[in-house]
Amino acid sequence: MIEKIQYQSEGVLVDEADLTPEQLQLLQETRNLFAQAYAPYSRFRVAAIALLHNGTRVKGTNQENAAYPSGLCAERVALFQAGSLFPDAAVKILCIAAKNEQKLTTKPVSPCGACLQVISESEYRQQKPITIMLAGEEGKILLIEGVKNLLPFRFLPDAL
Ligand code: THU
Repeated sequence: MIEKIQYQSEGVLVDEADLTPEQLQLLQETRNLFAQAYAPYSRFRVAAIALLHNGTRVKGTNQENAAYPSGLCAERVALFQAGSLFPDAAVKILCIAAKNEQKLTTKPVSPCGACLQVISESEYRQQKPITIMLAGEEGKILLIEGVKNLLPFRFLPDAL
């Protein structure tokens, strides 16, 4: 018997004016971080801030390497830092913004698959979904409640 499994993903695409004051401030702070990215090879700067429920902001930017696979995405820099510095604090919002040095990025950029898996683990660890905010250098923002909307068939610890 063949059973069809369907997941529905949802998110909302909004203007800056539609964000809460907390979300707008976080977005602006994230976009202000582009200068701290180290992206001499791709020229694609990514910044991420994990806003914890205790109000702490944990920042990350992509860190590249001449040995390409040794670099790390901005989201993972931020989430691993949050997990190691504040192991008991849950992440409320993860804001991610991207800037291409060669052309204006006006559309939200989705995290790569490996970063989605790491976001999934953070949610599992805190037993709470994270609000994910995705943005370009300017333009609309994609708001997503929980990584299940971006990675429906994700690997969870229950499978181990
Ligand atoms: N990058 C991120 O930092 N986050 C993502 O989710 C996508 C890609 C970085 C990795 C690399 O430094 C550059 O963007 C181009 O792929």
